[in-house]
Amino acid sequence: MPATHHHREGLDRDPFWYKNGVIYEVHVRAFFDANGDGSGDFRGLTEKLDYIKDLGVTAIWLLPFYPSPLKDDGYDIADYCNVHPMFGTLGDFKIFLREAHRRGLRVLTELVLNHTSDQHPWFQRARRARPGSQWRNFYVWSDTSGKYKDARVIFKDVETSNWTWDHEARAYFWHRFFSHQPDLNYDNPEVHKAMFKVVDFWLDLGVDGLRLDAVPYLYEREGSDCENLPETHAFLKKLRAHVDEKYRDRMLLAEANQWPEDAVAYFGQGRGDECHMAFHFPLMPRLFMALRMEDRLPIVDILEQTPPIPETSQWALFLRNHDELTLEMVTDEERDYMYRMYAQVHQARLNLGIRRRLAPLLNNDRKSIELLNALLFSLPGTPVLYYGDEIGLGENIYLGDRDGVRTPMQWSSDKNAGFSRANPQSLYLPIILDPSYHYEAVNVETQLANPHSQLWWMRRILSLRKHWRALGEGKCEFLQPDNNKILSYVLRLGQETILVVANLSRFTQPVELDLSAFKTLVPIELFGRTRFPAVTDGPYFLTLGPHNFFWFSLEPKLQPQLAQPAAGEPAALPAIAVTSHWQDIFAGVPRAKFEAVLPDYLKSRAWFSGQTRTIKLVTLKEVFNVPQPEETTATLAFFQVEYVDANAEVFVLPLAFTTGIVAGPLRENAIAALTLPEDPKFGTVYEALTAPAFAGALLELIRRRERLHNERGELEATRLSAAREILNGLTALEPSVHHTDEGNTTLVFGDQIVLKFFRRPGAGVNPELEIGRFLTEKNFPHSPKLIGALEYQAGAETRMTLAVAKAFVPHAKNGWKFTLEAITRYYDRVFADAAQGRNPSATPAVGPLKPAHHLPMAEAAEHVETYLESARLLGERTAELHLALASGEEGGEFSPEPIAPQANQSPATRTGAVCRARCRPRSGGPSALPSAGGTKLRGATHPHPWRPAPGPVALDGTRFCFFGF
Ligand code: GLC
Repeated sequence: MPATHHHREGLDRDPFWYKNGVIYEVHVRAFFDANGDGSGDFRGLTEKLDYIKDLGVTAIWLLPFYPSPLKDDGYDIADYCNVHPMFGTLGDFKIFLREAHRRGLRVLTELVLNHTSDQHPWFQRARRARPGSQWRNFYVWSDTSGKYKDARVIFKDVETSNWTWDHEARAYFWHRFFSHQPDLNYDNPEVHKAMFKVVDFWLDLGVDGLRLDAVPYLYEREGSDCENLPETHAFLKKLRAHVDEKYRDRMLLAEANQWPEDAVAYFGQGRGDECHMAFHFPLMPRLFMALRMEDRLPIVDILEQTPPIPETSQWALFLRNHDELTLEMVTDEERDYMYRMYAQVHQARLNLGIRRRLAPLLNNDRKSIELLNALLFSLPGTPVLYYGDEIGLGENIYLGDRDGVRTPMQWSSDKNAGFSRANPQSLYLPIILDPSYHYEAVNVETQLANPHSQLWWMRRILSLRKHWRALGEGKCEFLQPDNNKILSYVLRLGQETILVVANLSRFTQPVELDLSAFKTLVPIELFGRTRFPAVTDGPYFLTLGPHNFFWFSLEPKLQPQLAQPAAGEPAALPAIAVTSHWQDIFAGVPRAKFEAVLPDYLKSRAWFSGQTRTIKLVTLKEVFNVPQPEETTATLAFFQVEYVDANAEVFVLPLAFTTGIVAGPLRENAIAALTLPEDPKFGTVYEALTAPAFAGALLELIRRRERLHNERGELEATRLSAAREILNGLTALEPSVHHTDEGNTTLVFGDQIVLKFFRRPGAGVNPELEIGRFLTEKNFPHSPKLIGALEYQAGAETRMTLAVAKAFVPHAKNGWKFTLEAITRYYDRVFADAAQGRNPSATPAVGPLKPAHHLPMAEAAEHVETYLESARLLGERTAELHLALASGEEGGEFSPEPIAPQANQSPATRTGAVCRARCRPRSGGPSALPSAGGTKLRGATHPHPWRPAPGPVALDGTRFCFFGF
């Protein structure tokens, strides 16, 4: 093993990572220009790594970035072990690699084995070297251009022969591509050695995989077409053995544009002893063909013709890439059809293909784009996405060669689409100005701001896909419904069974599927977790709108299973089997089981506001991992709870895991027991909010103003600058007290900070945060200072407040309770006095709201004690609060607005009505109130609109403090 593994920190150790990821193909030149010279560079790409990560891909494939004359956009290499100065330095590359790895993204680079540029020193040396010498033989020479006649010319639009005369060498040299790209001679063992050095150079740096460019053409033999020769496979076995011996977790990806039976040969024999991956070239045009023909046949046919592959191998699937949409692997008739359907304009055609991007090929039809991507993301293989296709980037078929699909990435509607600060005329290629794909409309910024954009759709489907390994890795079986416009297949892997149904037609289609093999299972639609009717023996009937698709998980009807209680264990917890990690409960079958145990758990919680409702379904929406001390993980999980009898609500559950059986306070918050195949007592998932480490971690997020990301949105911790000291001086990171009200839980840290966590965060900014921030900024002395908050944001529209942190006010008491206590005391006294025959008139005749002058004031005041003074102070503070709230600047959130006189009346009218309704004397008058022995008023625990202040008011001796709004 080489000593340079430090560049791969951040990556998991899965040796089969390439089997279930998503690869993003990027041209460094096209992505982002950090130095303003008109061409993208490594520094720019590094700046955009978060964008790539947030998209939800797992690996980046870089097109060639080596020193080169750039006559074939870098595939004409002049130095294998360096970086083209236009893209930066080797140092920049290393930083990029480290940063990609830090985000868990793997990096694939190009290994162009077959040829070099004619500017490569090897070629310069060869053309001058003595014929027959070792240096000369780095390339393939001949005195005539008549050899290997059966080899086709690939770039047939520009080249007429695979031989070109070199004046200096006075001989012909062999090339399968451009005449400035001489082919290396693999019959020369020195070439193998030189190429292995190149492999080692990049793998030693930490690169995770190599795409073997143009790999079928390494050898030439008379009488053959010089493709896929046994010698080529022998070399690849040698290369694979070399890589396996020296490195761990690396991957070789074959670019072999071949029919399936020839392509599978590149995986090698047995468990696979050549390339780990190979592109499935023949499938790609057939996806487009099936869509236009509105017939599943081309897809099913080619996949049924594809032989099985070794278990450690994986196909790379793609819709579009940096080259023309190649039509080499189709019949002549099929090619004519494709040209007619997708390339009517002659400029769109190149060699044997179509030089167009995905969105324009599909006439910018979102439904077709989504449909083809849904097939790409579910058929067996690892999908490869071409940069820009996630936002529907346009093309420019009027540019030369394949440049029309290699234009700059469009980041915003700013100058040069936000790609570069350079003079627009100096860009390496012009930005797309076609009205339908104009960069002012088609760009990342615009799409991020719209949750319904193609970019967001892409993020969502990728985030969903990663939870189901059967998508891409499952064993695929095609169904054969009568309606051939419907493509349907079942993917199975372990406990997962996924059913895909896709309508290739532009019209609505019915379909009857034979699902009898899955009788009694329930199809659950993956995007909305909607349950469909259970499968029976009979045909399963579905209707699909134009170009619609379904992804279903076929799941058993769930009966949560109870774990066996261990000795001393109070009651059994539901048990869930996971494969390796507790967070498996967020994916696949364990997730469905976890969702099934939640209704009972929620009903047992005091904070759960849906107590009286009937829960129909609980669905996990998304999760955020919260970094915790000691490298453990806890998660904030968002669940949607659907009711039979009310609208759905979103709840947030902080979850954590501990091994073994839990006891004590944790046991009260335990949700489920997890089992591993080898360990039935693996551990327990519990609600983490009151666990010290988790609560502290939430405060820490606020202190550090951290942002956490997932595929859908962002968790943003904010803090007022002035609050830094309180947080830094915090003596206890463990909450000392906590109490739970309906809908929220409050934690107190060291008598310094109060953190209120909203279990059911409504949409928009919580008024407690909004008003708290305003009053703190205004220095209003009678409300606790706001410290910070935790908010969730997805797109421009969705914002929710999850928690607010405020300064702790000692001896604070809830104003509502304070008042009720005072009233209770008052009546206790009155009734006690009455029992002793004293002062019966102190009891109000018609209820507590009768004007005060009806009461004998002196006695009443004595009974009401100091509460009257408190009420007076409360009035004063309320007025001050209103003044403070009305002091907002013109145009700001709190700027005062004039109220029309009629509007002014309505709150008064409403308040009067509420009072009348609430304070009607009960039948039997005051005697219906609790007798002297009683201490509580009925309804005391249920706050109602008749409150002494705009919200619960806490009292601190003589002070009033406004807490909730
Ligand atoms: C591969 C590349 C293509 C390049 C050719 C010659 O096919 O994908 O872009 O032009 O090799 O190097």
